[in-house]
Amino acid sequence: MKKVSITYKIPEAGIDLLKGKYDIWVNPKDKLLTKEELKEIAKESDALITMLADPIDSEVLEAGKDRLKIVANYAVGYNNIDIQKAKELGIYVTNTPDVLTETTADLAWALMLAVARRIVESDAFTREGKFDGWKPELFLGTDVYGKTLGIIGFGNIGQAVARRAIGFNMKVYYYQRHRLSSEEERASNAAYLPLDELLKVSDYVSLHVPLTDETYHMLDREKLSLLKKSAFIINTARGPVIDEQVLYEKLKNKEIAGAALDVYENEPQLTPGLKDLDNVVLTPHIGSASHETRSRMAQMVAKDIIQALEGETPEHLIWR
Ligand code: DGY
Repeated sequence: MKKVSITYKIPEAGIDLLKGKYDIWVNPKDKLLTKEELKEIAKESDALITMLADPIDSEVLEAGKDRLKIVANYAVGYNNIDIQKAKELGIYVTNTPDVLTETTADLAWALMLAVARRIVESDAFTREGKFDGWKPELFLGTDVYGKTLGIIGFGNIGQAVARRAIGFNMKVYYYQRHRLSSEEERASNAAYLPLDELLKVSDYVSLHVPLTDETYHMLDREKLSLLKKSAFIINTARGPVIDEQVLYEKLKNKEIAGAALDVYENEPQLTPGLKDLDNVVLTPHIGSASHETRSRMAQMVAKDIIQALEGETPEHLIWR
């Protein structure tokens, strides 16, 4: 029987599709596998379901080269996988696009509203029993309605974030390497601006680019210095897209109004001091974390694995 190994427990909806067809191994620990363990399971499996924090580098892929047919990454991002090596060895790599678009856009908006309206701080204040009556200047925040939103990376998720801005009457700008056609721009509720311009005019900047050599530290000291003092940054993409140490300094010195982060440069570690700032909202990489979406993702990886193991090209092969 062919063997499918899953590096961390995923929703049953996916496992159910594989049950009976294959020998299934699921990491029994509530802990990521080590590199050595990944190499071991790569060697003895026909298919792997991997998490975005699993480093599927050339060593792991080499270990699996005689048997492994597919690595199905349980995420839309696949910066944890050495794609070139996988291609070279003829191992399919798939991801989970589309199904998590709206869920991740919802989180970007939840974070934007939370940091603008100081939801986390005021929740803590209320729980601590400090609420002793309505006051005219208690927890004053910043409006979102009618402001300017800059979206960096205008793929499916960036565009879903832009659609939600219609209800908030926001002026929306986007930046990405490839400009959309004028027809696509009209339909998307956003106008193109070069990156520097977008950073200068935005009240809120939301990131939606994949992590690549090109986007690493895309917001470095120079770019972060272009932001208005009143601007907020929202990152639900990948941590290393921002120089987190510089971001921390700018938030601490109030050179930027605030940030809401779901991803970190050295995940799961945070830049020292970041969690002590009251102008940040921090969540633990939960962009796609709804019951519905995580189940759909589980079914998607399972279906891609079935296709690959039954001799077909998997639907979500990333290099098509
Ligand atoms: C992904 O799937 O790449 C997201 O980061 C999950 O939240």
